[in-house]
Amino acid sequence: MNVLIKTPEEIEKMRVAGRLAANVLEMIEPYIKAGVSTGELDAICHKYIVEEQQAIPAPLNYHGFPKSICTSVNHVICHGIPDDAKQLKKGDIINIDITVIKDGYHGDTSKMFYVGEPSILARRLTEFTKEALYAAIALVKPGARISEIGQVIEEMAKKERFSIVQEYCGHGIGSGFHEDPQILHYNGYTSHTDLVLEPGMCFTIEPMINAGKRHCKQLNDGWTVVTKDHSLTAQWEHTLLVTHTGVEALTRRNEENF
Ligand code: MF3
Ligand code: CO
Ligand code: CO
Repeated sequence: MNVLIKTPEEIEKMRVAGRLAANVLEMIEPYIKAGVSTGELDAICHKYIVEEQQAIPAPLNYHGFPKSICTSVNHVICHGIPDDAKQLKKGDIINIDITVIKDGYHGDTSKMFYVGEPSILARRLTEFTKEALYAAIALVKPGARISEIGQVIEEMAKKERFSIVQEYCGHGIGSGFHEDPQILHYNGYTSHTDLVLEPGMCFTIEPMINAGKRHCKQLNDGWTVVTKDHSLTAQWEHTLLVTHTGVEALTRRNEENF
C-alpha cells in the first residue's frame, strides 16, 4: 500500500481540480430533462471541460472507456456509457460521474438527478444515499480509521433495509485517478481498513446503494454495471482532503452547505 501525503502545492492543485469537477455537475443540471440523450449530456460536458475549463475528461480512453463522463440510469449502478440512443424519460433517476484532470491532478465527483418526479422509492433511495455519504464525510479527520466509513454506511443501510454494493469502492486520488487506499462502503476487511487518516491524504467516498439485493453484474460492453435483480440503485461521490482539523470536500457544490 502506498498512501501519498499531498504537499501544499499538490493540495492547491487538488482544490482547483475538485472545484472544476463540481462546476461540471452544476453546469449540466438544466440539461437533464425528459427527451435528452445521455450521449448529448456527454457531448455538452466534454465541450465544457475541454473548451471552458481547459481540462481533461479523465474517463475518456481510461482503460478503453469510450466517453468523457459516466451516466448511470435507474438500475445501472455505475460506469454507464453515454449513448445517443438512450433518452431520459420522466421518472428516471440518473447518476452523472465527472472526473477532470487539471494541471496533472484529478477531481472526481458524482450526484443523482431526478428526471421529472421520481417514485417514492426512488426519492427515498436517492436521498438516503446522499445522507450516507454525508455521514461518512463527517467522520473524516486525522486519527480516524478508514474502517469507520464503511461501518457508518452499513449501520444506516441496515435500518432502511437497503443493500450496499461491495465490488466497487472509494479510492485515493491525486496525480493518479485511482490511488491507494481502497475505501470500502460496507463493514468489511482489507489490508487498508486499519489505516489511520493523516492530514494531506486525499480520497473519494462514493457509496452505491441498492433498493434490492447487493449483487451486480457487468454487461457485455465491458463497462456498464447493473443490479443483478434489476432493482433501483443510487450513488453520490465526493473527493476529500484530510485537514489538520477534519475534512475539506474538494468537490463541494454551491447547493451544499457543509
Ligand atoms: N469516476 C469513477 C470513479 O468514481 C471511475 C470511472 S472509470 C471510467 O472512480 F472509466 F468508467 F470512466
Ligand atoms: Co471515484
Ligand atoms: Co467518480
